[in-house]
Amino acid sequence: MQILTGKEVAEKVYESLQSDCNVFVEKYGFPPTLAVILVGSDPASQSYVQGKKQACLSLGFGHRDYHLPSDTSQEALLELIHTLNEDSSVHGILVQMPLPAHLDADLVIQTIRVEKDVDGFHPQNVGNLLIGKPGFVSCTPLGVLQILDYYSISCSSKHVVILGRSNIVGKPMASLLMQKGRDATVTICHSKTEKLQQITKQADILIAAIGRPLYVTEAMVKEGCVVIDVGINRIEDASRKRGYRLVGDVDFEHVAPHCKAITPVPGGVGVMTIAMLMKNTMQAALQLAQKETQ
Ligand code: GUN
Repeated sequence: MQILTGKEVAEKVYESLQSDCNVFVEKYGFPPTLAVILVGSDPASQSYVQGKKQACLSLGFGHRDYHLPSDTSQEALLELIHTLNEDSSVHGILVQMPLPAHLDADLVIQTIRVEKDVDGFHPQNVGNLLIGKPGFVSCTPLGVLQILDYYSISCSSKHVVILGRSNIVGKPMASLLMQKGRDATVTICHSKTEKLQQITKQADILIAAIGRPLYVTEAMVKEGCVVIDVGINRIEDASRKRGYRLVGDVDFEHVAPHCKAITPVPGGVGVMTIAMLMKNTMQAALQLAQKETQ
């Protein structure tokens, strides 16, 4: 059984980004820059936003931090996005989700300029992905592909079963894997799927992205399958100083012995998401800078 270490893959991505960033700064005289907007103070969101800032700082990317109060109005948030859309020193814009309930997340996402939508959430980017055209793609599914590629795990003609149909992970993951060139046969399962275990047992590659701690048990996997665990769940743990520990959607301890390969949590897919965000930001900066100098 092989452990698919996201950390190792992310390090390679960062190495390559570091050199791309140096070349970019040399050429244009300013760094690729990411603006991150956080509304409210959800602890998990705060920690994700902090991780994105750290990644920017360590690579030498520019970073703009906008921490807005939870009662921020829709108008004020859209106004900030419009300002960042027009700011040529900002190349990527990310609004941390979920937003407080009074804000219209769809409208917020649609307001971000498509060329700066490094999250790949804008309907135009989502549509381009579906029809196999260039555009920004959601970072977590990109991270999963990067792991599969790094460990030379081919999806071609394999049955990939995805647990979860979210716009951020399940749907873009399925779109990527079914593209010509990837050539997977994809099944998406969700909360209303019947005979779930019968389906997951057919998976050559099982991707769990449902946000339910330790949901995937050994009874749900085929002997020798590859398991990719996208879940990052906090569960109470009094023995830890911070009072919780992170577990995936997969019961790693009992599932791993039956797998050909599996990602751990933490240290698996989670660390890839930010690495791919930095990659998307690099790409946005290159495209926008080239456009400006034309
Ligand atoms: N919340 C959870 N994951 C994500 C992500 O990838 N991007 C944003 N903007 N918010 C998130």
